[in-house]
Amino acid sequence: MNIPIKTPLVPDPYSLDLEELDFSSGRLFESDAWQAYFSRLRDEDPVHFQNESPFGPFWSVTRYEDILYVDKHHEIFSSEPGILIGDFEDEIPLEMFIAMDPPRHDQQRMAVQSVVAPKNLAAMESLIRTRVCKILDDLPLNEEFNWVDKVSIELTSQMLATLFNFPFEDRRKLTYWSDLATGTPELTDGDFTTEERAAGLGDCLETFQKLWMQRLAEDKPDGETGLDLISLMQANDETKDMMDRPMELLGNLVLLIVGGNDTTRNSLTGGVFALNKFPDEFKKLKANPSIIPNMISEIIRWQTPLAHMRRIANHDVTLGGKSIKAGDKVVMWYASGNRDESVFENPNDLIIDRKNARSHLSFGYGIHRCMGNRLAEMQLRIVWEEILNRFSNVEVVSGPVGIKSNFAKGYSYMGVKLSPLS
Ligand code: HEM
Repeated sequence: MNIPIKTPLVPDPYSLDLEELDFSSGRLFESDAWQAYFSRLRDEDPVHFQNESPFGPFWSVTRYEDILYVDKHHEIFSSEPGILIGDFEDEIPLEMFIAMDPPRHDQQRMAVQSVVAPKNLAAMESLIRTRVCKILDDLPLNEEFNWVDKVSIELTSQMLATLFNFPFEDRRKLTYWSDLATGTPELTDGDFTTEERAAGLGDCLETFQKLWMQRLAEDKPDGETGLDLISLMQANDETKDMMDRPMELLGNLVLLIVGGNDTTRNSLTGGVFALNKFPDEFKKLKANPSIIPNMISEIIRWQTPLAHMRRIANHDVTLGGKSIKAGDKVVMWYASGNRDESVFENPNDLIIDRKNARSHLSFGYGIHRCMGNRLAEMQLRIVWEEILNRFSNVEVVSGPVGIKSNFAKGYSYMGVKLSPLS
């Protein structure tokens, strides 16, 4: 396999003083340099204050136990007004329950979480499998193609269209809106302009407002609710008048679009990449496919599709011996916690039968723990089951190319060549 050496876009973290390093740079993730940066922080200054950054001063929390502490204490560490390292400064300040504290958070989460209840997931499994099979059967054999586009994006956009009962032919719009929502320099050191974001999200709102009205007008048998997210919102007292609160409607839609999109997409690509980096694990998988469920947790740990979540301290608090003041930004680096060697042995390796893989932090913890975790795991499990049913090898032949963002930790390109089962 030919995985090119990453261009050094950032300085060697051991060549400078800690105070000179910028832990908020999207380049750390784009160039895959982040491990050494956060390893140094975990060793030398695990709760670290960075006074200057493009996002203002902030604390980096880098060890597993400290991250858990922050995530468990939502009364001290608020998710309002946002969970990204940067703040919204444009005219589209999205309001979403991931960025709300109780009681509003709990009410709104309750309104939509039934869409991913076990009963619904079971009902969705065969549809997901059919779609996965179709995508995999249509892939070229023995020639390079972009796995990110043809598999990871295609599959997750199809799933999102299903969750929203969104026009299937327009499903790539969902992917675009998701990329836009978190991809500006001000929010996460991404590359979209603020104007692109505003225009795209305006289009998103308009499209969903139309869909909302269409759904209301549809004939439904008495007492029955559609199982898509819009119908569920319309049927719930807390969210049924959300059309009158456009920023909240848009925020919650974007939350579900981003939640179900980048994350699963990058786990799909990251899994193939990791199994190519650790070929003995690939052999282990082929010899024993019953490891798949545990492997999915391990891939999600190894990839950590969302590198961070941000909080604001409600009052003064001491963490890891450091005095955090009320109003300070506190960034939990899940990517670092998942590589904490005091919890995960050989944390940089993918070990598909790792005993404590499920203890990863990638879904967060506490009241905001990922609502779609079971859905994501199910999708990934099905993809891997069907890959093993078809291909003897999934070889990474070029890339991957990383995304410049300190939030969505993922890939824009990965050249893959498939060999059929003989
Ligand atoms: C929340 C990661 C898949 C919907 C979260 C949080 C994380 C996360 C870290 C916690 C946010 C916080 O503490 O502030 C992931 C990863 C996924 C994934 C790594 C895939 C591997 C999904 C999917 C959906 C989804 C498929 C779609 C239904 C949500 C929602 C929240 C959330 C709605 C907000 C929960 C709340 O604030 O109560 N996710 N997610 N996620 N996720 Fe996911």
